[in-house]
Amino acid sequence: MLAAVFLAALTAAVANAASPLANGRAIFLTGRDLAGKQISAQPAPMRSSCAACHRADGSGGVHLPGGAVSADLRHAAMVTHQKHPYTLAMLERTISTGVDNEGTKLHPVMPRWRLSKTDLHDVAAYVMTLK
Ligand code: HEC
Repeated sequence: MLAAVFLAALTAAVANAASPLANGRAIFLTGRDLAGKQISAQPAPMRSSCAACHRADGSGGVHLPGGAVSADLRHAAMVTHQKHPYTLAMLERTISTGVDNEGTKLHPVMPRWRLSKTDLHDVAAYVMTLK
């Protein structure tokens, strides 16, 4: 029993370490990392995965309560057309603090995510791959 629990934890750890992008993709699409842990935010998020607000392809444009419209997270919008293009570090900061690349506070409908260092890195790295 203990061995099985240990093995499951080890398998999840290896899966996460082996494939940051697969972990980031799982978080983005399902709100759960590859270890099965549900991502959380304070206050609690209105929807539980990134894709639920930003769409599976990251194109955004979803109208949400309070007049918020989800952002386009694809490369052209986040990098090519930005005066201060997003880097991985900036993206990690935005996802966890809700302050964007221009130093502006985002609408409160965008959750301030509380993720482990690994999950934060992996979901940000995945967002950087959205075309
Ligand atoms: C409940 C809906 C919701 C969920 C869930 C959500 N977002 Fe957002 N997000 C928004 C909204 C709305 C905005 C735009 C806020 C604004 O315009 O001030 C936004 C903005 C952003 C931005 C800023 C983009 C820019 O142009 O500066 C990033 C980055 C982002 N979200 C990433 C994520 C990631 C990664 C996740 C999952 C971990 C996520 N969001 C989950 C609603 C959501």
